[in-house]
Amino acid sequence: MANLLYITTSINGASGVSRGFGDTLAHGLAAKTGATLVARDLAANDLPLISAERFAANLTPAADRTPQQAELAAVADTLIAELQAAETIVIASPIYNFGPPASLKAWADLVARAGTTFRYTASGPEGLMKGKRAYLAIASGGTPVGADFDFMSRWLTFFLGFLGITDVTIIAADGIMGEGAEEKIAAAHAKVAELIG
Ligand SMILES: Cc1cc2nc3c(=O)[nH]c(=O)nc-3n(C[C@H](O)[C@H](O)[C@H](O)COP(=O)(O)O)c2cc1C
Repeated sequence: MANLLYITTSINGASGVSRGFGDTLAHGLAAKTGATLVARDLAANDLPLISAERFAANLTPAADRTPQQAELAAVADTLIAELQAAETIVIASPIYNFGPPASLKAWADLVARAGTTFRYTASGPEGLMKGKRAYLAIASGGTPVGADFDFMSRWLTFFLGFLGITDVTIIAADGIMGEGAEEKIAAAHAKVAELIG
C-alpha cells in the first residue's frame, strides 16, 4: 500500500496555523485513500546541513561507500526512501523571511540526489519522482502566496517539479497578521474540507 508523507516545519508545532489545516489535510487524504501516513517533522531542526563530505557520500553508490560515508549518507538515504515510498506528499509550512524555513531547505539539499531522485540528460535535468501528488499547506503573516517576493511556494513548487512532482496543489492562509485573518484561515480549512470530502 502506498504511503502519504507528511512534512511539517513550523516552530509553533501543533498550534501553528499551517499544522492546523495541514494535519486535517494529511490525515483526511490518508483516510480517503487508505494510505499509511508517515510523519516527518523538520521543526526539531535535527537534519544536518549539507557539507562537502556529506554531499560526496550522498552521491557515492551504497556499495562503494566507506563506513564513514555510509554513516554520513544514512540520513539522506532515509529521507529519500520516505519520498520514494510516498504516492502523496503533504508539506505544511510557514513562510520565513520570504522563503522556506531553513529546515525545509536542509531537507531539499538531502533528497536532491543525482541519479536517484533526478538525473542529468542531454536535454537537461529530469526528475525521477514522477507520478506523485503534492499538497502544500502554507501560512504566512504578510507575504501573499504567489507574490513576486514569495520565494517559498515558488521555490518549493519549482523544486518539486525538478524532482518530477508536477501535480502540486497549494492551500494557503496567507497574510494572517493583517485584516481578515480568521476568514483566511477558515477559507483554508474549507478548501481542505473540499479536497478530502
Ligand atoms: C523567523 C520567521 C520569519 C518570518 N518571515 C515571514 C515572512 O517573510 N513573510 C510572512 O508573511 N510571514 C513571515 N513570518 C510569519 C509566519 O509566516 C506566520 O506567523 C505563519 O502563520 C507561521 O506559520 P505557523 O502558524 O504554521 O507557525 C515569519 C515568522 C518567523 C518566525
